[in-house]
Amino acid sequence: MQTLLIRNLLPADFEQISAVIDDWWGGRPMRAMIPRLFFEHFNPTSFAIGEPGQVIGFLIGFISQSQRDVAYIHFVGVHPGRRGEGLGRKLYEALFRVATEQGCSSIECITSPLNTGSIEFHLSMGFTLLTGSGQLHGVPVFLDHAAPGEHRVRFRKSLGVSDSDRSPQTK
Ligand SMILES: CC(C)(COP(=O)(O)OP(=O)(O)OC[C@H]1O[C@@H](n2cnc3c(N)ncnc32)[C@H](O)[C@@H]1OP(=O)(O)O)[C@@H](O)C(=O)NCCC(=O)NCCS
Repeated sequence: MQTLLIRNLLPADFEQISAVIDDWWGGRPMRAMIPRLFFEHFNPTSFAIGEPGQVIGFLIGFISQSQRDVAYIHFVGVHPGRRGEGLGRKLYEALFRVATEQGCSSIECITSPLNTGSIEFHLSMGFTLLTGSGQLHGVPVFLDHAAPGEHRVRFRKSLGVSDSDRSPQTK
């Protein structure tokens, strides 16, 4: 079986990923969310699987400029035909490693409350849902977080704590 190496995201990845992203998100218009600057200025904390032009998974992350001990995941996507193989987990673990090496103690991200697959994925990755300002379909949300009417689920995970160390309630 082909070995899938994780490498840092490159400026050369922009065209392909930008072109496929709406499809990978089930037709949602996401392209504007990943401008070229992420492919040029966030490379040490962003990752891809596959050669430029043939990427099957990517993650865009960074270390907060405001809170140096916090890492943030802006975007993660895996080719629809390659989901469920552990690629999303590999991409996250790559960032967990780099962020920990750089002194981060936690990592955060957000998702849409409608993206139930993403919520399940983050729970599997050891994130907890932050208590928000409301609830939607039984999930805590931060109302109007992204814009009026654009509610978001917020996640946080402590770094350097293995899953087996966490108490059962937080799993
Ligand atoms: C979310 C996404 C990145 C997951 O990638 P993936 O490669 O399929 O995930 P993995 O195979 O590494 O799964 C890791 C864990 O999450 C769980 N998981 C992943 N997707 C899941 C889903 N849709 N429902 C339930 N659990 C899910 C897996 O069961 C696995 O759990 P385990 O390791 O405890 O067995 C992928 O589905 C995707 O690209 N979705 C569209 C883009 C998106 O919504 N991104 C997130 C918001 S930015």
